[in-house]
Amino acid sequence: MSDSDVILAALMNRRSIRYGFDGRSVSRSTLERIVACGLAAPSSKNAQPWRFHIVTDRPTLDELADVVTGARDIDDYVPHDPGTGRPYAQYTSTVRNSAEVLRQVPATIWVENLGAFSSGRKTLLSVPNEALAGSLAGYAFELIGIGAAVENMWIAANALGVAAAFMGDVVIAESTIGGRLGFTGDLLGVLALGYSAAEPRPPMDVRAFAESTRALWHSDS
Ligand SMILES: Cc1cc2nc3c(=O)[nH]c(=O)nc-3n(C[C@H](O)[C@H](O)[C@H](O)COP(=O)(O)O)c2cc1C
Repeated sequence: MSDSDVILAALMNRRSIRYGFDGRSVSRSTLERIVACGLAAPSSKNAQPWRFHIVTDRPTLDELADVVTGARDIDDYVPHDPGTGRPYAQYTSTVRNSAEVLRQVPATIWVENLGAFSSGRKTLLSVPNEALAGSLAGYAFELIGIGAAVENMWIAANALGVAAAFMGDVVIAESTIGGRLGFTGDLLGVLALGYSAAEPRPPMDVRAFAESTRALWHSDS
């Protein structure tokens, strides 16, 4: 395969792997290479709004898993519809599963948004209406950059033979996790890493949308 085929295959084959970890630890040098790829990601104004917290210590990972399952209403935790303020009915909670992943994997990268533009969610909540659209745009730019960093680390992990899954729902225990790891910004989720030969499992892992509905080609003629 050519270099470009290898890169494209890495992108197309990236999946969330949440099962089948074989107990092998991920070496420090492998984690450093993965994190370096995250730190190389693009970001708006090159603000590099992220901070990554690498946790491999088994007791700490178990403690963080306990914190997640100890949060309130974990079986109802799904994205909310801002129109109604209520959880979207079509989603089910994955919080218990995420805690189980934390118990199984040997390495995690917890993702913090330092809030270079937005100063974080608490600040956004108190922004006056007339400033909100601009502040939300800044927040979105932060998240786009951090998303790129997470993807870089995910693909880098796969390239090094390490399976990965990103779990945003650990945010349900944000204050305790943030306190435990010394966050000053918002928790966005955790990239769980380990060695696994498992295939992704349905139902959440079924690709849902036909390309034709999510990639529209606007031609000149
Ligand atoms: C921002 C974000 C948050 C996510 N949060 C969770 C999560 O909380 N729990 C989980 O099991 N998977 C989570 N995922 C993984 C998605 O469910 C997964 O990427 C999607 O179903 C597509 O599957 P694939 O990654 O195997 O292609 C998240 C992914 C992203 C990008």
